[in-house]
Amino acid sequence: MTVGKNIIVVGAQWGDEGKGKVVDMLTEDAIAVVRFQGGHNAGHTLVVSGKTVVLHLIPSGILHKGVYCLIGNGTVVAPDALVEEIHGLEQQGIEVRSRLAISSGCAIVLPSHQMLDKMRELALGRNAIGTTVRGIGPTYEDKAARRGLRLSLLRNPEALRSQLEAILDAHNFMLEHCYGAKRFDVDSVFDMLLSYVEDLTPMLADIPNLLGRYRQNEKHVVFEGAQGCLLDLDHGTYPYVTSSNTVAGYASVGTGIGPREFDEVLGIAKAYTTRVGAGPFPTELHDDAGDLLFRHGGELGAVTGRRRRCGWLDIPALKKTARNNSMSMLAITKLDVLDHFDTIPICIGYRCGDDLLDEAPEDSLLWPECEPVYETLPGWKSSTRGVDRIESLPYAARCYLEKIEEIIGVPIVLVSTGPEREASILLGNWL
Ligand code: IMP
Repeated sequence: MTVGKNIIVVGAQWGDEGKGKVVDMLTEDAIAVVRFQGGHNAGHTLVVSGKTVVLHLIPSGILHKGVYCLIGNGTVVAPDALVEEIHGLEQQGIEVRSRLAISSGCAIVLPSHQMLDKMRELALGRNAIGTTVRGIGPTYEDKAARRGLRLSLLRNPEALRSQLEAILDAHNFMLEHCYGAKRFDVDSVFDMLLSYVEDLTPMLADIPNLLGRYRQNEKHVVFEGAQGCLLDLDHGTYPYVTSSNTVAGYASVGTGIGPREFDEVLGIAKAYTTRVGAGPFPTELHDDAGDLLFRHGGELGAVTGRRRRCGWLDIPALKKTARNNSMSMLAITKLDVLDHFDTIPICIGYRCGDDLLDEAPEDSLLWPECEPVYETLPGWKSSTRGVDRIESLPYAARCYLEKIEEIIGVPIVLVSTGPEREASILLGNWL
């Protein structure tokens, strides 16, 4: 019997790389798809049979019949958002409950976390992080402070009530005294949480145990990263990051199985670069080229509808994320967005003070000083939209991909040329 692989899929840039589509494709040979970090700040857009579905908390495998979807302990869960998402899928005729398993160790995102997120961003003014205002940061903070609520409390309303009182005391104090905002009423938050008990408790399960069982299967298990590695709390452009670890190593922590259980790490990168929210972005464009990337790439955020900042491909940043994740494979998405350019610059290094760097630095405070050094490649000025064979790509497009592969040193296994599943070129070692 061939044994299925445990494959981690991570965004190699600042998120929105098109992970949803790639995970969805991998799912054809998978028994399960697992989320291990983040929360409903994520927005995974899938286009299947002409229909667009945006998922926030539920793993992208849900659109495939018979595939299990797991939410690991490293994920933070807003019960209201999760139940709304389940209902939305059910209304489209997708069976969810028999296939969704959720760790009882997930931290609960409360409405007061969302309010704190909003108030902090307002108070930061021009220095705001540009969060999704979903309460993700404050929830991870409470988890680290050991006063957070976990989903297991839904099974014990008495304990839930007393822990909720304690945490709301802390939140209300901050809201009232730091931000002059309204207090949250314990009774109404408690009632709101109780109203989800019936929906959610049947799906609470022992995730490490399930993953141990799936390991015996011929099919793969896909660990679906959310956001991107440059938003990682430790390895990203701190403090302009999210509050979870988005790198592949967290797939172990956030699901409860050890690091020897993983076989492959697939990084996903756009053929150019985007970022939402504030923070350093060395290759950002403020000209017509940036505008073209924005328009042809449809670069509006799936969660907040914000315009994404756009720029050229940043190889030093990708080299860093390849290292931080021990990336074994690379997928390049949205190649077709580059169809419109006469020439395409790629950043191959940074000038940082007196140094010339070929890989982004560990110290995130150096990022704002990094000046990109470009090499300009010829464009192809013809449509690659929907191309599904490498031989059918224009010569210049193939050179562009070869250049990326050569410098980063990680094999490209997939090139995406449009949002549909079929608009994909599979190469060599694709699983
Ligand atoms: P938070 O995760 O809502 O705290 O936001 C922190 C940073 O991560 C902000 O720059 C957000 O724009 C960014 N971010 C969070 N989730 C996503 C995502 O799914 N895609 C892209 N950026 C994200």
